[in-house]
Amino acid sequence: MKKIISIVALTAISASLLAGCGNSSDVSKDNSSDSNSSSNPSSSSTSKVNIGCAIYKFDDTFMTGVRNTISDAAKEKGADIDIVDSQNSQPTQNDKVDLFITKKVSSLAINPVDRNAAGVIIDKAKAANTPVVFFNREPLADDMKKWDKVFYVGAKAEESGTIEGQLVVDYFKAHPEADKNKDGVIQYVMLKGEPGHQDAELRTKYSIQAITDAGMKVEKLAEDTAMWDRVKGQEKMSAFLGSKGDKIEVVIANNDDMALGAIEALKGSGYFKGNKYMPVVGVDATAPALQALQDGTLLGTVLNDAKNQGKATFNLAYVLGQGQTPSKDNTGYDITDGKYVWVPYKKITKDNINDAK
Ligand code: GAL
Repeated sequence: MKKIISIVALTAISASLLAGCGNSSDVSKDNSSDSNSSSNPSSSSTSKVNIGCAIYKFDDTFMTGVRNTISDAAKEKGADIDIVDSQNSQPTQNDKVDLFITKKVSSLAINPVDRNAAGVIIDKAKAANTPVVFFNREPLADDMKKWDKVFYVGAKAEESGTIEGQLVVDYFKAHPEADKNKDGVIQYVMLKGEPGHQDAELRTKYSIQAITDAGMKVEKLAEDTAMWDRVKGQEKMSAFLGSKGDKIEVVIANNDDMALGAIEALKGSGYFKGNKYMPVVGVDATAPALQALQDGTLLGTVLNDAKNQGKATFNLAYVLGQGQTPSKDNTGYDITDGKYVWVPYKKITKDNINDAK
């Protein structure tokens, strides 16, 4: 009997000691481990962070990379995360957010379907005092100002456009014969992402601006949206080839999936065989795009850093879920204007392909 009592007492003492340790050391342990990405999942077991995360749609190549990183980071930290598919519908996403709030998640990580709808999500989150980190689709500046517990993780769209334009400049400088009709003007077609998305609008604008800033002349033969999608990219490119044919001198796509679709259409018209070549550029540096770079069909791309965007999104949601204010110290990322994490882009060609892996 005596033995049983002492075992019970010992268990109680060590349990309370453990709980005490967990509470007091959690925060500092998690802070210090954020930057070197090693952690002890069991350390946060007493007050587990529980994050509600919604992706605009699961069926998107680049966002799948971001999603997988977020999920891995949560596993590493021992945080609970529920990642749901908004199926490209803002009403569906709003319902999911309502559900997360009802379940009292510690923080939200939201990839909006429509960035203009972020204001509504912020109002809901603020009313429930649930901090929110948006990512990939940047809310309007006025919405971001609505509450001090609203953050954004993304990349500067204009930077990716500028780098994409530079890829075209580099190519035409090195290959004067790429000006097929020798008129001193680059005849291009543009495959756009979703209209209104900051990446679609600004990549379109800044890619062309980078070419004209380099003193080259351009003529737009055709432009259409293929909604970030490979199959649509192929369809639109087939239509461009049907109407403009050999007049096209370069294909500029707002992302790699559309560029890869265009490459399929070009292959169907005899390109990438013998001497028949077409420079095609994209953005993201997804795995299939890197393969196309290696194969010599894709000329160049721009690394859209899914790993750091996913990690920063998780780290911010995690510290917010612990009731802390995100800082460089506790997230490992610079926070600009108290609200924004900007992850840099990088030019990728066959020569530095390993920088994207
Ligand atoms: C962009 C990316 C696209 C697409 C889009 C979704 O940053 O380049 O491929 O994933 O985000 O919002």
